Amino acid sequence: IQLLAATLVLLIILLHFGNAYSLSRDEFPSDFVFGASTSAYQVEGAANKDGRKPSIWDTFSHSGNGHMYKGNGDIACDQYHKYKEDVQLMANMGLDAYRFSISWSRLIPDGKGPINPKGLEYYNNLTNELISHGIQPHVTLHHWDLPQKLEDEYGGWVNRSIVKDFTAYAEVCFREFGDRVKYWTTVNEGNVYASFGYDLGMLPPQRCSPSFQANCSRGNSSTEPYLVAHHMLLAHASAARLYRKKYKGTQHGFIGFNLLTFGFVPLTNTSEDIIATQRVQDFMIGWFLNPFTFGDYPDIMKKNAGSRIPSFTKKESNLVKGSIDFLGINFYFSFYVKNSPAIQQIKDRDYMEDIEVETIQLTTNDTSPFEVPITPWMLQCVLDSVKKDYGNFPIYIHENGQQTLSNSSLDDWSRVKYLHEYIGAMANALRSGSNVKGYFVWCFLDGFELLGGYEMSYGLYYINVKDPSLKRQPKLSAKWYTNFLKRKPMDP
Ligand code: NOJ
Repeated sequence: IQLLAATLVLLIILLHFGNAYSLSRDEFPSDFVFGASTSAYQVEGAANKDGRKPSIWDTFSHSGNGHMYKGNGDIACDQYHKYKEDVQLMANMGLDAYRFSISWSRLIPDGKGPINPKGLEYYNNLTNELISHGIQPHVTLHHWDLPQKLEDEYGGWVNRSIVKDFTAYAEVCFREFGDRVKYWTTVNEGNVYASFGYDLGMLPPQRCSPSFQANCSRGNSSTEPYLVAHHMLLAHASAARLYRKKYKGTQHGFIGFNLLTFGFVPLTNTSEDIIATQRVQDFMIGWFLNPFTFGDYPDIMKKNAGSRIPSFTKKESNLVKGSIDFLGINFYFSFYVKNSPAIQQIKDRDYMEDIEVETIQLTTNDTSPFEVPITPWMLQCVLDSVKKDYGNFPIYIHENGQQTLSNSSLDDWSRVKYLHEYIGAMANALRSGSNVKGYFVWCFLDGFELLGGYEMSYGLYYINVKDPSLKRQPKLSAKWYTNFLKRKPMDP
């Protein structure tokens, strides 16, 4: 009996730790895509080369106004000149796919009108290089870097003219690269662009509400975030319709949209906090997913924002509904949610106040204060709830990664632990029926971090930006990911 008990205990321990600590690529379907991500302004550099004109990110990062860090993307990782070296590194790692974005103002410098032949050449070269190494290109069209010209001319995304110009830009991309690119994401983190750019004023074009006057003093935050999101939905849907009508038949690609998601947990088990948790999800992701799935905004958004949120016409609603082939999810943080009723009248509120919650970041005790607490079970919850609330459309985790200080060690154990745990959470979500199709680590390289300049790092490869050679040095996480992808034995 004693022997039996000891064997049982051993078995339980093995099963428990085996489950937590062994992770194999074989747990994923054979067509599951593993990759890494970047965006144009964060890695390309060559900002003033070969006919590229400024985007709102060039203006913002050079202005020194209202952001907490120094630096800009003028040189960044110089991927514009080093793309061959980078693609070779990706191939050595065994990446299936690379997610990058096209700089709109490199391809069409004024946002509309003539195409820049050098821009065309660069994206053709990068795409061909990837394909010839067996790496799928997953391309984002708008990773927040709107051509400055369109911002100056009519206020960018706040103006409905953007729908036509974005569709025309998307068409150039489909026409020129669509024979080789099969995965298109129209907009990166549309929810963040609208809220951080037009309410908090923390990101370009830095428009904000009176509560965030320290960041800027322009804009009308009570309506603009809603208007911007509305135009993004219409621009996406218009580009998707065009693709389906004119290109899908020959190119056979897919069109998606990307959102930042958070893990949200009620602070207490009171009904107020539980309802508030649903509300914040509706405001963060339902804002886009409800229109994509049902053709309209969530009821709670219409109630809390009243006439400040635009209404869809029947025609618009039909255009937007069903316009995504897949959803791109970026996941980093988790929060406790506390109900916090608004005190202002509806007409005086901004987007953040409409949500009527207070959020408190969820912490764990195994990371340093600068690092993102690792809460993989929350990614699983997000995947499960998207499946439950919006149908089981295909999902790509477009971004997930650990933030560290850029001068920290190449032995980035916390990033290894982070990736290991989130990839494990994805395997669990798949087992419970989630339709996740791929996972991209943010970020392939240490680049110009949009929320922290060169002081903050997410890369699998370290780059010392003070060293003109911009040599790529693999961190432990790059080696770990390589081993995972190549099914080599590894320790977490
Ligand atoms: C979201 C953005 O898409 C990306 O550009 C940024 O660098 C990461 N999150 C990390 O902040």
